[in-house]
Amino acid sequence: MPFVNIKKQYLAIGMLIFVVLFFFNSRPAFQCQFTPEVTPYLPTIYGITPTYARLTQKADLTRLSQTLMLVKNFHWIVIEDSDTKTKLVENLLKETPLKYTHLNMKTQKSKHSSVSASGVEQRNIALNWLRGHLDAIPDKRGAVYFMDDDNTYSLKVFEEMRKIQKVGVWPVGIVGGMRIEMPLVTNGKISGFNAVWKPFRPFPIDMAGFAINATLFLIHPEAKFSRKVQSGFQESEILKYFTTKNEMEPLAENCTKVYVWHTRTQKPSILNPKKLKHPPIPDGHIEV
Ligand code: UGA
Ligand code: MN
Repeated sequence: MPFVNIKKQYLAIGMLIFVVLFFFNSRPAFQCQFTPEVTPYLPTIYGITPTYARLTQKADLTRLSQTLMLVKNFHWIVIEDSDTKTKLVENLLKETPLKYTHLNMKTQKSKHSSVSASGVEQRNIALNWLRGHLDAIPDKRGAVYFMDDDNTYSLKVFEEMRKIQKVGVWPVGIVGGMRIEMPLVTNGKISGFNAVWKPFRPFPIDMAGFAINATLFLIHPEAKFSRKVQSGFQESEILKYFTTKNEMEPLAENCTKVYVWHTRTQKPSILNPKKLKHPPIPDGHIEV
């Protein structure tokens, strides 16, 4: 009957539309199946950050941790300059989605107190931890970056350090009395350094201005920071184990870009509540 025929035709057209729509909607799934996305290899960045208790610590660590949340394949090693781990740092780390290792080591002031240098003992125990960690995992590749907790890091600096073969270097903004302290590059090689503060340092660059291939720390188990060198020589002290000026790899567009700034958080002055005529409501129970 013609009536039935028409119904069958409608049914066939309807089924055809359904099949076309089904395939159209499923395209991404099919694409995934036939052309799998190739994720390029990303070396892990091990960021080593000493930190100490002061009024601006949580603010500095919050800012830094929120930058680090945007960095892929990042492992944060945070070392408190204290005899025990504090709740403030422990909770801050727990609340981040970051991969982290929390350590503590109090600075030994007594021995070489005339030499002012922060982070020496803390960075050294972080390097010990890192060696043990790399020994235990099959993929030992990565980059090690020594990060102050109060610097400002562009995401671009992390992209640069993934290119490192041995030791990569780049300029640092607002440091050593200069707008920019930086390596000088001639024909793709480091030919010198533009630095005015202690320019006689073997490597006159700041801690934020270089990163080192992680595997090299296994090849050089003796490499560490030292309290026996004069102030400002910590960078040179660690770099001497791994590289020479000529071997350093200039990054950040041949050292023409600033992707990290040696910012320093101002020490706040808080009025003594006992000396105020109208003392504020006590707030000691609230973490700041
Ligand atoms: C400069 C360099 O950028 C640092 O890498 C170097 O450690 C430092 O000098 C030094 O040799 O003393 P600067 O801004 O003067 O940086 O130092 P801070 O930012 O005050 O300290 C460097 C790191 O060590 C920070 O992450 C800080 O939290 C930590 N620190 C500082 C401690 O763990 N204990 C302290 O008593 C002081
Ligand atoms: Mn600093």
